[in-house]
Amino acid sequence: MEKTRILVTGGTGYIGSHTTVELINAGFEVVIIDNLSNSNREVLDGIEAITGVRPNFVEGDCNDTATLRKLFTDYPGIKGIINFAASKAVGESMEKPLLYYRNNLNTLINLLELMPEFGVKGFVFSSSCTVYGEPDENPVTERSPIKTATSPYGNTKQICEEIITDTVNAGSPWNAIILRYFNPVGAHPSALIGELPNGVPQNLIPYLTQTAIGIRKELSVFGNDYPTRDGSCIRDFINVVDLAKAHVIAVKRLVEEKTLEPVEIFNLGTGDGVSVLELINTFEEATGVKVPHKIVGRRPGDIIQVWADPTHANTVLGWKADTPLADTMVSAWKWQEHLREKGVM
Ligand code: UD1
Repeated sequence: MEKTRILVTGGTGYIGSHTTVELINAGFEVVIIDNLSNSNREVLDGIEAITGVRPNFVEGDCNDTATLRKLFTDYPGIKGIINFAASKAVGESMEKPLLYYRNNLNTLINLLELMPEFGVKGFVFSSSCTVYGEPDENPVTERSPIKTATSPYGNTKQICEEIITDTVNAGSPWNAIILRYFNPVGAHPSALIGELPNGVPQNLIPYLTQTAIGIRKELSVFGNDYPTRDGSCIRDFINVVDLAKAHVIAVKRLVEEKTLEPVEIFNLGTGDGVSVLELINTFEEATGVKVPHKIVGRRPGDIIQVWADPTHANTVLGWKADTPLADTMVSAWKWQEHLREKGVM
């Protein structure tokens, strides 16, 4: 039987590469488009080493309609799109808002416009718990209020969700699933793919593992005077492979036209809130490696605490994030060691 063809934009990135692996393992044929702005070609080797299959790869930018049109023509019969291609650094988005609006909105609009012409049935969108802002109550469900975005990055996620919903409501011949990620962390257990941030990491786990291996002197914990159990912020850290598997279920559901509504929205988290200090402890206990750290002032714009109620995804998608956090920390560490062995950093 012919394999179902799926387009993964941003497929050499962190979550895109893990999702590509799970799609291939589940019997899909993957076409990746990526402009390599925050990733590199060697990711394709990692994917091939894990799965035994090299995904089709187009180096290009989803901002460019001609590139996309050529892709759909060269790879006919694409049934679903999973859209990871986007800029994602909160701080950078404050300095370069137009870059964020252009990249994230144009990419989405270009893809949605081309879907009817090429008969694509489903669209999976990477959204974020950032749409909930600082929630009044935790855990958050999909019906929790959407708060005013605190960064252009966060605003692009809200606007993109609205663009998708408006387009579907106007009678698009395709359906969509919006996935709101909490904090994706860890790497593939093979240590052949993982997160590879450019420059000094802004996110917690890459900074933590780079400190543990000695690239950075000390991890700064941004604040221990928050109204939480130990004073540090609380997040819902979800294993990236668990997260990737939800995409396979989502795209399958769309391609098989099994969605219950034209736009379905799911929180992807574990349901457990873990503090920054607890996470450092878990890492140290799981790996036996110490993480030098110090408490510093709060980081402007940080949410105090947010964690998911994942019941909707658990029941409707039959999906659960069940990798123990300790195993996830070991995977992040093995990936950092792999980068050292390869001489990457
Ligand atoms: C942010 C965004 C999220 C986005 C994600 C990926 C918001 C509210 N959240 O998540 O939407 O998808 O980045 O770019 O905009 N921390 C330290 N020291 C560090 C780094 C982080 O203590 O060196 C703390 C932070 O203060 C925070 C926690 O670790 O409490 C997680 O931070 P981070 O990994 O940057 O993710 P978020 O800010 O939660």
